[in-house]
Amino acid sequence: MKIIANFKMNKTPLETKDYLMNFLSRVKECPHEIVLCLPFTSLFVGKFLTEGTGVKIGAQNICDEDEGKCTGEINGAMLADAGAKYVIIGHSERRTKFKENSKMINKKIKCALKHGLNCLLCVGENLVERNTLKTAEVLKEQIEDALKGIYENELEHITIAYEPIWAIGTGQHPTAKEIDVSANVIRKVISNDFSVQAGEKINVVYGGSVEPKNISQVSKAKKINGFLIGGASLDYNNLLQILSTLK
Ligand code: 13P
Repeated sequence: MKIIANFKMNKTPLETKDYLMNFLSRVKECPHEIVLCLPFTSLFVGKFLTEGTGVKIGAQNICDEDEGKCTGEINGAMLADAGAKYVIIGHSERRTKFKENSKMINKKIKCALKHGLNCLLCVGENLVERNTLKTAEVLKEQIEDALKGIYENELEHITIAYEPIWAIGTGQHPTAKEIDVSANVIRKVISNDFSVQAGEKINVVYGGSVEPKNISQVSKAKKINGFLIGGASLDYNNLLQILSTLK
């Protein structure tokens, strides 16, 4: 399984160092792929401390341009050099708060792939869309917009994170059955747009209020390959507890 932590805007480099010193020694035998998506400023310390451990680090954003006058942005080459193996793209917080549109998200994916980064493409419906039964439609549109011009052989570097917006940071989450329904929608979109094999092979993870207290429930979902964990991952004890439940 892929177990991915999204630290969001939390932890200074020093706090990241403390976290890693405690966390890394406790996950030596872990059978899962662990990815910690750190703030930009913590990437370098993350790279240094995770070297040779099997734990990977990722970033939470990437510039949609490779070069040019982009004050305040970080491009794919910089991320790769700072040690990132993954990058989160299209998180709902960036789509809403930072007005990222589907065209930008598509460009970001292309930039990430060009620099050998694995993409964690976030998709998911909001509460109104859920209540009006538009989830499948929203997922299809978000995936198709994001993956325009992407080749089938590049899909192995793309993980789709199903993150319903109403579940992020709210303590609420879909049932395992509902997660599977959405994961099937995602796989069907990929299978229609690429191939049946691609639909089966694509990595899909679930994110939204995953915590130690509900991991045994949500992990009953059969159509996903892992989890993207926000708030709960900030305490390494919680993340360790989630990992041990998944063993
Ligand atoms: P929470 O786990 O805090 O709900 O956040 C999920 C998320 O946004 C991960 O990207």
